[in-house]
Amino acid sequence: MAELTLPFLEGSAATGSYPVIDLEGVGKTYTSGSIEFEALKGVDLRIEQGEYVAVMGPSGSGKSTLMNILGCLDTLTRGSYHLAGEDVGEMDEIELAGVRNRRIGFVFQQFNLLPSLSALRNVELPLVYGRVHGAERKARATAALERVGLGDRLANRPGELSGGQQQRVAVARALVGEPALLLADEPTGNLDSSSTQEILGLFDELHAQGRTIVLITHEADVAERAERVVRVMDGVVTSDGGVR
Ligand SMILES: Nc1ncnc2c1ncn2[C@@H]1O[C@H](COP(=O)(O)OP(=O)(O)OP(=O)(O)O)[C@@H](O)[C@H]1O
Ligand SMILES: [Mg+2]
Repeated sequence: MAELTLPFLEGSAATGSYPVIDLEGVGKTYTSGSIEFEALKGVDLRIEQGEYVAVMGPSGSGKSTLMNILGCLDTLTRGSYHLAGEDVGEMDEIELAGVRNRRIGFVFQQFNLLPSLSALRNVELPLVYGRVHGAERKARATAALERVGLGDRLANRPGELSGGQQQRVAVARALVGEPALLLADEPTGNLDSSSTQEILGLFDELHAQGRTIVLITHEADVAERAERVVRVMDGVVTSDGGVR
């Protein structure tokens, strides 16, 4: 892949002196009828600005549950969650939607692009919700696509792009609002090995430029690219540290 240059990202997601993520004693119990299931059993996790963290664990260990909480897509049952200093546990649905839009960029396994919109329009979407208009919106979305090496694919719809290119559009969309946190759930799960390397190379660059990245994966070689690996098993963190 051509070298990517990502010029505008340095220090742009400043969060003051707070950790980006601060979970204390977080529990999550799912209730279906009269059946309760404790998917997270007291998770403590602090992630500082600029860290690149992989969350690993076997199927059913609670990774997606944790991701949904980190991403303010679901609420916790016990404990507390501060995101960039804000107490997220106290917020209602509308406030959470605002936090998601301002603070978090999401990248999913299935890309989650809108098929009828061009790459440019897909990347503009978070700015539409953020009420950025007109020429500024277009300029920022164009710059984000240039950052991920897709400046020549602005008009293409997702179906006209390769899997790796679609995921790069998704990364551009995640970054266009300059979020404090880039949250990726199995971002290479649907990619072949060369596209996987493209995306991981992009994450390496974003990390080098000071982005905070949390990547959920069950693949050891993907997790090895992060500087810190948090392992989850049966709803608890079983280890937290360097890779090797
Ligand atoms: N909405 C729900 N209601 C009840 N139980 C749930 C719900 N969502 C998840 N669970 C249970 O919580 C546990 C953790 O699920 P989770 O999806 O977080 O696992 P995971 O680590 O992401 O697994 P995978 O690697 O397979 O994606 C599982 O036992 C699952 O069955
Ligand atoms: Mg999962």
